[in-house]
Amino acid sequence: MSDRLTEVSRYFIPPDLKQAKRRGKEEVQVLQFEAIPEDMREIGRGKHYLIKTYGCQMNVHDSETIAGILQSMGYSPTDREEDADVILLNTCAVRENAEDKVFGELGRLKPLKVERPGLILGVCGCMSQEEAVIRRILQQHQYVDLIFGTHNIHRLPFLLKEALFSKEMVVEVWSKEGDIVENLPKARQDGLKAWVNIMYGCDKFCTYCIVPYTRGKERSRRPEDVLAEVRELARKGYREVTLLGQNVNAYGKDFTDRTYTFAHLLDDVRKIGIPRVRFTTSHPRDFDDHLIEVLAKGGNLVEHIHLPVQSGSSEVLKRMARKYNREQYLELVRKIREAIPHVSLTTDIIVGFPGETEEQFEETLSLVREVEYDSAFTFIYSPREGTPAARMEDNVPYEVKKERLLRLNRVQDEISRRKNEALRGQVVEVLVEGESKKNPEILSGRTRTNKLVNFRGPKSLIGQFVQVRISEPLTYTLKGEWVETESVAGAGM
Ligand code: SAH
Ligand code: SF4
Ligand code: F3S
Repeated sequence: MSDRLTEVSRYFIPPDLKQAKRRGKEEVQVLQFEAIPEDMREIGRGKHYLIKTYGCQMNVHDSETIAGILQSMGYSPTDREEDADVILLNTCAVRENAEDKVFGELGRLKPLKVERPGLILGVCGCMSQEEAVIRRILQQHQYVDLIFGTHNIHRLPFLLKEALFSKEMVVEVWSKEGDIVENLPKARQDGLKAWVNIMYGCDKFCTYCIVPYTRGKERSRRPEDVLAEVRELARKGYREVTLLGQNVNAYGKDFTDRTYTFAHLLDDVRKIGIPRVRFTTSHPRDFDDHLIEVLAKGGNLVEHIHLPVQSGSSEVLKRMARKYNREQYLELVRKIREAIPHVSLTTDIIVGFPGETEEQFEETLSLVREVEYDSAFTFIYSPREGTPAARMEDNVPYEVKKERLLRLNRVQDEISRRKNEALRGQVVEVLVEGESKKNPEILSGRTRTNKLVNFRGPKSLIGQFVQVRISEPLTYTLKGEWVETESVAGAGM
């Protein structure tokens, strides 16, 4: 790290990917978020903030925490950049294009900052955990006021104060394994569906992935804290919670004082009166029989599992260090389908991993045909500095990778279409979320299996569970008709 870096802030500890890879025996601390200091509680009175969020649900929920902290300091939200006194970019580092977008955005925001020097422009999230990113911001975007890492969110009141009163860029990025901070204020965006962290970090170290470096080691929130949060959400009238972790199936493995796994947690959440419970993301490796058994109890545990496979080739899976092979994955799918016959499965797939041959890619196609996912997120492999895969020889030309992605998407689209077609004429339970984005005359909501349904109905249905007959299945969404007489709140329990 250059001296300039250490000079910019007395708080600065440079993020270090090598150090991030080490996983110590250090015990995870559970800290309590302290009340906002008196002199900062009114600091945002009459002022506005705007947070732009990139990346996964973890980041979406972190933005709700950041918003909660800012609101506790008196700030109010705005959608208009020109009205904002604080603009934060909550960034994602998972692929290069995610990072490019953020640098593009920083460039675009420069004139606004020049015009209004009092504006605080900040960068947080996963990119700020990367040394190269910090360097680049210091060199090319000196007008940024504040950078803070994924372990530093709870420190925002102090950092913001520092940024408001200092002329230097304030940088605080702890390159550490991570603690757990409870009692963080949260300004949830939605009154119906809520994200709930059950664990932080990831210890899987898939060879292509930056997340274990940007998010620290796997650490689980205590069950009593998670359950209390879900109960509170149920009491407030939330209709759905999604339990969040990079690898939720590893939940509880870090407890030293008890045996309590993800299956135990779901079994307890199942008894709370919240109509729908989802979770993401499941790593196939840790998906055990007990978990399948609990999921098969149904009720508020919906029949949808996102089960990233990444590749259909055992050889590629090995080089990805996914710790399962094609046969084990297919066996898991078989067991899940046997226990939960109407389950909807979705997945993530990477094409063009270093050295992926045509035959290996075709194994992915054949696995997709065999499993018949309801839908899939598909990506072209993107090398991430500091990860083992970035050092592997990559002999697959970019054109070939692009073509593989197209071929894969064609196969998956056809399956998605066929799966949706099977719902034609069926009546499904929909949680009505609001007006459709494209047409305010149309309402939109989701099935238990997380499929988007559009239909006509009165606005009073928003927030309710209704029955909808599917009249026109499409590839990515379903069109339907509201079945008026059958509407019941909390149906499907
Ligand atoms: N923890 C989750 C995924 C987090 S990242 C899990 O393990 O399933 C979301 C998805 O991004 C991954 O499932 C993977 O498909 C994709 N991804 C991660 N790193 C990538 C990279 N370097 N290039 C392309 N896609 C990547
Ligand atoms: Fe990344 Fe693998 Fe961890 Fe998922 S399980 S976050 S893909 S390292
Ligand atoms: Fe991106 Fe960080 Fe999530 S890298 S995918 S925002 S954990």
